[in-house]
Amino acid sequence: MDNNWDIAINALSNINVFSHPNNDPVTIRGITDELKCIGVGTDAAVFQHIAAPGYAFKVYAYDKRDKINVEAHVYETLGDSTFFPTCFASTDKYLVLSYEKGLTLFDCILQGIHIPKTVIDDVEEARAYIRSKGLNPRDIHLKNIILQNGKAKIIDVSEYALPGNDLRWEHLKKGYEQYYHLIDGNSVPLWLVETIRRWYNQQRKSSFSYDDFTKAILKLFHLT
Ligand SMILES: Nc1ncnc2c1ncn2[C@@H]1O[C@H](COP(=O)(O)OP(=O)(O)O)[C@@H](O)[C@H]1O
Ligand SMILES: [Mg+2]
Repeated sequence: MDNNWDIAINALSNINVFSHPNNDPVTIRGITDELKCIGVGTDAAVFQHIAAPGYAFKVYAYDKRDKINVEAHVYETLGDSTFFPTCFASTDKYLVLSYEKGLTLFDCILQGIHIPKTVIDDVEEARAYIRSKGLNPRDIHLKNIILQNGKAKIIDVSEYALPGNDLRWEHLKKGYEQYYHLIDGNSVPLWLVETIRRWYNQQRKSSFSYDDFTKAILKLFHLT
């Protein structure tokens, strides 16, 4: 790709991002006509510039900026792979990534868009690839996977340099295998997905049992 992302530098200097506790998404100050926000996470907001639509600029919250170097380094270690975006550059404020078309799996569930089993297999393959590079696949959840032409693209590689298994992917995969047929093809309302997400994050703080958790969800929402 041509290297014209620097056309966005000026507009990006007007953007400021602020983080919040409890896994709440960041907020943004300093709106410009040239930048479109295409997503927010707990550490950063991601923008596309009208004159350089092939790029995604991941602008970090002030107090999360120490993660920029870590994430840039992870991209470098991962090297060229179709499982991840390309990282073109980093500054003290943002990462310059390839823009990845498609919906996150979170949005697929909200919109009732079918998630094929091959996506699960892709993520498994990507996790093996991550390990083969001496990194640790972590933080792999519905908002960090994009469905692109029937294949999985994993965004947000920032935690791969940390130790430990957060089990998020293992839980999601089991949930897909056991229960996806209950919602496949239906739009799941946001309040329901958000309630389950918050409950999951809450319960993980103490001893967590996947079986007890899923049983309680099925019962509470009369899904069986
Ligand atoms: N390269 C990209 N292309 C398209 N959308 C992206 C890209 N990177 C991130 N996004 C969108 O922005 C959101 C937040 O980005 P993410 O890297 O997950 O931030 P955080 O580290 O704060 O969780 C994602 O859920 C996704 O919707
Ligand atoms: Mg994320």
